[in-house]
Amino acid sequence: MAKKKSESEANNKIVDLEDIPGVGSAIAEKLREAGIYTIEAVAVATPGEISSIAEVGESTAVKIISSARKLAEIGGFESGEKILERRKKVGKITTGSKELDKLLGGGVETQAITELFGEFGSGKTQLCHQLAVNVQLPKDQGGLEGCVVVIDTENTFRPERIVQMAEAKGLNPDEVLKNIYVAQAYNSNHQMLLVDNAKELAQKIKKDEGKNVKLIIVDSLMAHFRAEYVGRGTLADRQQKLNRHLHDLMRFGEIFNAAIVVTNQVQAKPDTFFGDPNRPVGGHIVAHTATFRIYLRKSKGELRVARLIDSPHLPEGEAIFKVTEKGITDK
Ligand SMILES: Nc1ncnc2c1ncn2[C@@H]1O[C@H](COP(=O)(O)OP(=O)(O)OP(=O)(O)O)[C@@H](O)[C@H]1O
Ligand SMILES: [Mg+2]
Repeated sequence: MAKKKSESEANNKIVDLEDIPGVGSAIAEKLREAGIYTIEAVAVATPGEISSIAEVGESTAVKIISSARKLAEIGGFESGEKILERRKKVGKITTGSKELDKLLGGGVETQAITELFGEFGSGKTQLCHQLAVNVQLPKDQGGLEGCVVVIDTENTFRPERIVQMAEAKGLNPDEVLKNIYVAQAYNSNHQMLLVDNAKELAQKIKKDEGKNVKLIIVDSLMAHFRAEYVGRGTLADRQQKLNRHLHDLMRFGEIFNAAIVVTNQVQAKPDTFFGDPNRPVGGHIVAHTATFRIYLRKSKGELRVARLIDSPHLPEGEAIFKVTEKGITDK
């Protein structure tokens, strides 16, 4: 893979693995082959991991990790004041349904991961399409006047659907489509790399066109991970990579003050009849990283039910909305 140019702008710096002291092109290549594409990913890796991937001694691995932490500004303390300052900038994107917005405390938040999970046909992809349109709306209409990056892993992005939804909002569909940048992810490593590419793209769009990426969508987060990591022995591996991926996404959200929306299919387990039979596929890591987890389920016809799960600062509850030709609407 070609070495990418470093770029720095305001306080968002993009640096390469090769910028870590002690990491030359050979080590960088090995890290990338193992799915480690960013300084942040190195910063949160364990010495054992880096040592075996890069084929260096543990003490070298420790030095590499600590340099990466300094570069990534990870591991330090941040004052409450600084966190509050960042929180004040949080923006919200309307879902198209007032009831669902209310459940989310006003809409889908920036600087947070929102996980949509549910069975096939429960409306995850529809909601993603709608948010890709709505993020472009003016602020007084529930948008953030922003662009969107879509990482599509199942080839379910449909521009025709965007056109329908844009027209329903009175927007120019061609303009709306221009502001949606879609990439197909061929496997989980590629999916992770695309977050890196999205950072570069977002900086380029800002520089060249003065536009801000305010939303990044991964639909679906888990499909490749699930297909590639089969069997219990590989589960720890998978969780580690997934953890890194979510961390990269979260960083994207913080750097650009963008919302992160990921989908996760769940399958009904007919043998369980106590409690909710549906369990998200990602397991605990997704559960702990996502800031908002919305469980979607089908109801009669166009109706869908959303339930907010484990939110740190919002009460649990449910909202009913509709998926129609015009998109997501109130019931
Ligand atoms: N143009 C449309 N007009 C009305 N309803 C639509 C339209 N397109 C899709 N839908 C509704 O959305 C449903 C599909 O939902 P969606 O694709 O969001 O499911 P999903 O949760 O992403 O499923 P999966 O897990 O398979 O990816 C359809 O069954 C239909 O009810
Ligand atoms: Mg889908």
